[in-house]
Amino acid sequence: MAVLKSNHMLGLQHVPPEDIITILDTASAMKDIICRKIKKVPTLRGRTVVTLFYENSTRTKTSFDLAGKYLSADTVGLSASTSSVQKGESLIDTARTVEAMGADVVVLRHPAAGAAEILAKNVKCSVINAGDGIHEHPTQALLDMFTIKEYKKSFKGLKVTIVGDILHSRVARSNIWGLTKLGAEVSVVGPATLLPPEIEKLGVKVYTDLEEALAGADVINVLRIQLERQKQGLFPSLREYSRLYGINNRRLKAAKEDVLVIHPGPMNRGVEIVSEVADSSRAAINEQVTNGVAVRMALLYLLTGGEKVETAN
Ligand code: CP
Repeated sequence: MAVLKSNHMLGLQHVPPEDIITILDTASAMKDIICRKIKKVPTLRGRTVVTLFYENSTRTKTSFDLAGKYLSADTVGLSASTSSVQKGESLIDTARTVEAMGADVVVLRHPAAGAAEILAKNVKCSVINAGDGIHEHPTQALLDMFTIKEYKKSFKGLKVTIVGDILHSRVARSNIWGLTKLGAEVSVVGPATLLPPEIEKLGVKVYTDLEEALAGADVINVLRIQLERQKQGLFPSLREYSRLYGINNRRLKAAKEDVLVIHPGPMNRGVEIVSEVADSSRAAINEQVTNGVAVRMALLYLLTGGEKVETAN
């Protein structure tokens, strides 16, 4: 019997809290594997994972590739820019083509919100959403949550502040769904032009003043400022953004002394976060990348029929 409610991972909005806990517990066992000198187990031998990316990626694509390889799956990467997508082949035809070659899991990144869901309705294999437009990026949120759990142990009552371009952020949306389901108190802060209307309906507190939003924070999740948005006039200038919302040591004084700083990457150093914070012991940005491999191993394992892994905590 399948351990998770769905055999796809399309977003955290509809994932039950107990499934999120199962994924995080399984990722913990997977992290033990990637901390070994020989990072290879035979668990997914004979299984095939295809990454299908219509947008650029460093972390997500590479970590899915490695996650599959560490579990002994055959992994193949297909980039829209070098495939028959350039000849006009549709997303569904492309996915059905790789499925016909034997894919058990298709990992999709696509600029259109809802692309992964459409794909899941049109193929028999499992689909994992690796980021769909401004909708969701569930594996990023899961790795963020895994990292938070490593440092803070429990989500109940934990104050998490998400800073920056909330409007265009699939990372923010997935974090909000996941963290609130496990009992965290989530706040969002950014310029009014970068806050979605009615975001408070997702159960978050909303601020435009950074120091107010950081007061008593246990975790600060700093979002990448999407430089491409500057052309749309959503904030006056990078210098202005950095002055009002950039995370530096002075700003961290408003948060708890043991505040944890995370960032999904890629970072714009000196814009949304300064190096003195990004490279400090308060930040877990490199651990997030490592944890991304563990979380993606857990998902590949669970979606291909892996059984629940019991952990001590
Ligand atoms: N955080 C994240 O999704 O990074 P990439 O775009 O490099 O995959």
